[in-house]
Amino acid sequence: MSAPLNCDEYEQLAEALTEPGPWAYLAGGAAGESTLRANTAAFRRWTFRPRVLVDVDAVTTETTVLGTTLSLPVLLAPIAFQGLYHADGELATARAAAAEQTVMCVSTMTTRSHHEIADAAPGVAQWAQLYVLNDDGATRAHLDEAVAAGCSAIVLTVDAPVLGRRERDLRVGFAVPADLPVPYGAAALGRVPHSPATHIGLFSPSVTWRDIEWIAATTKLPILLKGVLTGEDAELAVEHGAAGIIVSNHGGRQLDGAPATLDVLAEVAEAAAGRVEVLFDGGIRRGGDVVKALALGAGAVLVGRPAIWGLAADGEAGVRHVLSLLRDEIALTLALLGCSRPEDVGRAHVQPAVPYDRPA
Ligand code: FNR
Ligand code: LAC
Repeated sequence: MSAPLNCDEYEQLAEALTEPGPWAYLAGGAAGESTLRANTAAFRRWTFRPRVLVDVDAVTTETTVLGTTLSLPVLLAPIAFQGLYHADGELATARAAAAEQTVMCVSTMTTRSHHEIADAAPGVAQWAQLYVLNDDGATRAHLDEAVAAGCSAIVLTVDAPVLGRRERDLRVGFAVPADLPVPYGAAALGRVPHSPATHIGLFSPSVTWRDIEWIAATTKLPILLKGVLTGEDAELAVEHGAAGIIVSNHGGRQLDGAPATLDVLAEVAEAAAGRVEVLFDGGIRRGGDVVKALALGAGAVLVGRPAIWGLAADGEAGVRHVLSLLRDEIALTLALLGCSRPEDVGRAHVQPAVPYDRPA
């Protein structure tokens, strides 16, 4: 195939290059995968309301999230075990994030440490995704290292007190290879078979709102809560001092039957009412999807699988290309919508797609 033209073509390329086990882990969702499918389908249920005769000679995709300037309103979501997809793993992803000027969220289950990433990709903006492990010492050591390596925010994932059951992993018998380094997760992984398909006992199921306090006190970094899907929890996030919320259902990998994230974004954004940063992930495959999320209340979005398709296809260059394809699509969508910058996009730029069979 000649150079991919979009994220979907990167998916095809990546699948052809990836072993069945790691592919099942990347592609799969929980249980019957209805939430996984719903995430992408939801974007088709919104259409644009473009405004015409607006001067769009100077369009920019640049935006700011928690004080960091990004060249596009797209951050890299935390994805575990990137060494499964390319020999350079997280180092390649981090170099791409630095080159394309965006934030990389580094998973607790990274195969490279925050220091290795900082050294390999000077200047990269790293956010540390946190799983509170069933081992307090390991969690505290992880946080200390994240701070020392220059991470500028903590992303506490709140939708995984226990792991969803990933049937694709079970079907192909995927297990994390025993020789894959997992610098922060090893203590927890050591207690269970190397299998995210079971994952039971890996993360603490007892984390509550009260834990935000000690994490904030330990790190002094802004905390974002990843996995909020209701207005009620958005309100609690604000009350507990979170700096941001990431509307996410973990890419359909946790609670099957959870709503498509796009369907609850407006509820969460309204509850947050501008008091904290509202980010979004799940099912973003096009620049147009990004712009729809901005219209429904997101300040910026994260992409998960598409970046890893780029990584599997061509390492750092592949991740860079995925980001630049999205940036170009966002710029084009903004211009055709009559917007000069991400902040210009509002609720009036989208409408529900009207079903043809709607009674008059
Ligand atoms: C994830 N995700 C995830 N989230 C998290 O907080 N910590 C993690 O370690 C991981 N690991 C992980 C591995 C793989 C293979 C996938 C596909 C996903 C969830 C991820 O951050 C994000 O929420 C979703 O991937 C977003 O959906 P899309 O963009 O993949 O559709
Ligand atoms: C997953 C975990 C590790 O989704 O976040 O597999």
